[in-house]
Amino acid sequence: MATKRHLSGIQPSGRLHLGNYFGAIVQHLENQTAGESYYFIADYHALTTIHDPEAFRANVRDVAVTYLALGLAPEQATLYRQSDVPEVTELAWLLANVTPMGLLERAVSYKDKVAKGLSASAGLFIYPLLMAADILIVDSEVVPVGKDQKQHVEITRDIAGYFNQRYGEVFVLPDVKLNSAPLVPGTDGEKMSKSYGNHIPLFETGKRLKKKVMSIVTDSTPVEDPKDPDECTVFALFSLFAGAAEREELAARYRAGGMGYGDAKKQLLATIEEHFAPFLARREELLADPGFVDDVLRAGALRARAVARDVTNRARRACGID
Ligand code: ADP
Ligand code: TRP
Repeated sequence: MATKRHLSGIQPSGRLHLGNYFGAIVQHLENQTAGESYYFIADYHALTTIHDPEAFRANVRDVAVTYLALGLAPEQATLYRQSDVPEVTELAWLLANVTPMGLLERAVSYKDKVAKGLSASAGLFIYPLLMAADILIVDSEVVPVGKDQKQHVEITRDIAGYFNQRYGEVFVLPDVKLNSAPLVPGTDGEKMSKSYGNHIPLFETGKRLKKKVMSIVTDSTPVEDPKDPDECTVFALFSLFAGAAEREELAARYRAGGMGYGDAKKQLLATIEEHFAPFLARREELLADPGFVDDVLRAGALRARAVARDVTNRARRACGID
C-alpha cells in the first residue's frame, strides 16, 4: 500500500509539556517510519502570541532540540522552521484571494478572542490562511493534529477547493487525522496547558519535577480508605506511561485502601523520570552541539523548499503569474 505524506506543525509558544508529548509528539514520531513526513516549527504562527524576541528564539530552539532528543530521525522525517520556507507566505497571498472573509470570521481562534472582548490582530485573523499554506505547500495528504486544530484543517480543505474551482486541480485536499490520545490533565485536573500554568514541562528533573508532581490536586480521602483510580489525576497521568499490567496493579492498590495519594505520586514521579532518562541524555548532547541542530534545520528547509517551490510555481502559473 502506498504510504501517504504526513505534515504537522507545532508552535514554539513555550516549553513543551506532557500534554504536547502524548497529544501530538508521540504520534508524529510514530508516523515518521510510516511514510514521508514533514514536521515544522510554526514560528510565523507563534508571532501572533510571542512578542519577546529572546523568548521567541529560545522557544524555536527548544522545539527542535525536543523533537530530536525524543527520537525524530532527520534523515527519515523532514524537520524545518516555517520561516525558512518563505514560499509559505507567498502561497498564503495567492490563497487569500480565493478565501471569503466569512470563512475566516468563523474560525474559533479568532471568534473566541473577539467574544472575550480582546482586540485581534490581522495576523490572528489570517492565522488559518497561513496554516492552509503550510499544509497545501507540500501536497500533504494527512494532517495529524489534536481536536482543537480540526477546524483549521477543514478550512484548509475549503480554501483548496475554492482555488481548484477557480483555477483547475492545483491542490491536494488533505485529510485530518485526530490524535487518539486522551486529553492529558494538568496538575489541577483541567486540560494541561501552558496557558493555565498547570503543566508539567518535558525534561523537568529533580526538585522541580518533584514539586510539580507533588502539587497534583487530589481529594481528601483518608489513607486507609479505598479510592477510585478513575477519579484521580495522578492515576490518569500514570496510565499514559504504564502498560496494562502496571496500571491494573496500581488500580488495585487504590481500591484496596491503605495507600495514600503521596505514594501514588511517588510512583508517578519515578515513572516519569525513568521514561525520560534516555531522552534527557540525548537532549544534553544536542544542547552542547547547536551546530548540529542548525544543520538539521537547514537540511530540512532545503528539502521542504524544493517541494514548496514546485507547488507554489504550480499555483502561480494557474493564476497567470508565469
Ligand atoms: P497549549 O495548550 O499548552 O498552548 P498547544 O495548543 O500549543 O498547547 O498544543 C499543541 C498540540 O499539543 C495541540 O494541538 C494538541 O494536539 C496537543 N496538546 C496540548 N495540550 C494537550 C493536552 N492537555 N492533552 C492532549 N493533547 C494536548
Ligand atoms: N495551529 C497549530 C497549533 O497551534 C500549529 C500549526 C501551524 C499546524 N501550521 C500547521 C498544525 C499545519 C498542522 C498543520 O497546534
